[in-house]
Amino acid sequence: MPTVATISKEIHKPHLEVIGGCPLAGEISISGAKNSSLVLMTASLLTDEAIQLNNIPDLTDINGMVAILLALGVEIQQAKNTYQFQAKRLLNSQPPYELVNGLRASFFCIGPLLGRLGHAKIPLPGGCRIGARPVSEHIKGLKALGAVVSVEHGVVQASVPGLSKRLKGASIIFDCPSVGATETILMASVLAKGTTTIENAAQEPEIQDLANLLNQMGACISGAGGPTITIEGVERLHGCNYTVIPDRIEAGTFLIAAAITRSTLQISSVIPEHLNAVLQKLRDCGCSIETKGKKIKIIPNQINAIDITTQPFPGFPTDLQAPFLALLTTAKGTSVVTEKIYENRMQHVAELQRMGASIRLQGNTAIVEGVPHLSAAPVVGRDLRSTAAMVLAGLTAKGISKVEGLNHLDRGYTEFEKKLNSVGSQIRRYP
Ligand code: UD1
Repeated sequence: MPTVATISKEIHKPHLEVIGGCPLAGEISISGAKNSSLVLMTASLLTDEAIQLNNIPDLTDINGMVAILLALGVEIQQAKNTYQFQAKRLLNSQPPYELVNGLRASFFCIGPLLGRLGHAKIPLPGGCRIGARPVSEHIKGLKALGAVVSVEHGVVQASVPGLSKRLKGASIIFDCPSVGATETILMASVLAKGTTTIENAAQEPEIQDLANLLNQMGACISGAGGPTITIEGVERLHGCNYTVIPDRIEAGTFLIAAAITRSTLQISSVIPEHLNAVLQKLRDCGCSIETKGKKIKIIPNQINAIDITTQPFPGFPTDLQAPFLALLTTAKGTSVVTEKIYENRMQHVAELQRMGASIRLQGNTAIVEGVPHLSAAPVVGRDLRSTAAMVLAGLTAKGISKVEGLNHLDRGYTEFEKKLNSVGSQIRRYP
């Protein structure tokens, strides 16, 4: 029988209280990219020399990856956002299930472990709330490079047959431009014998970031950022010092926060070209956007309805679909938002409806009739980006919203409410 203390804990889940209606003004500095950092950290498994990574964000997902790398035998030092990873001797080629469970990016270890040691055993990352998220493309690519791969009892076991334990370059054509699979094959093939080509590769900036790091480590990769990537295998890689790119999804989220509160805001330390599709959609719905060097200023006007379809980069990112949909709930007119990447990424719709949004869902398409205002309500974020979307909705809703789902939020946003409060919002965290 649950104790009173457990019941009380269940009722009082960690949450944010968001006071709606506060205008924002000023500048927010963007942290390093979560999705880049996670994969770049695993690239340190490819060499016995030290890799220094700067601009790593302070996130629970990063802590999860640190724990996995420590379990594999990587020595890690940290000073603020700078980490040094040195995989002098790898103790283990199988990260423990308890650490892997819940951190999908842990699967990234398979490529470098296979490339460096010739064997790896990684528990399947499994499905998640936003969709099934298979790893079939990763496995197909590893097999093409000569690995023997089997999935038994929920663990992917991969090994390189033969004495040399070295993968062999191959020509790989992905069925879909998977970000994770492109990263896995990049890391597996840099130490392979011969040339690898990846066609229909993902073109996300995080792929370029990984290729840039690997090239600084002595790899020979060309074409990253485009649909065809060529990797000439090298014998060994060495240490280096590298700075992670800014987080384009965090940047987009704060630009949408400005638009939803109809506030002028500047964000700094970004690469504006990484946000082209998002900036275009913000312009289309009536915002003025000024970019200067590493800064973007947004000056919202009346927000008008627009249509959005998520696509692989350079299209509109799925990771900003939920926040943008929150913005469109108060736009003038009818917007149509279609999710094309994940099969189950519309869970924020029901929560937004509870805040007074007028949305009809047809499969993975949301038809949003703009309303003059949202009204505050207790809501629950079901995944990382939908929790951010709930907070943004709370910023504009009348009254005080209670947003749960902070375990998701803290995975991917550094000091989310602190950054918003520094430009005028009033958000309080209850642990
Ligand atoms: C990465 C990002 C995630 C982002 C996504 C799409 C990280 C840590 N995460 O996830 O934030 O939402 O890119 O931009 O970088 N697919 C297959 N077979 C496969 C692999 C993928 O069918 O073997 C499908 C997936 O089910 C999904 C689509 O391809 O529908 C995109 O997945 P993918 O690009 O692999 O995303 P991730 O790398 O998991």
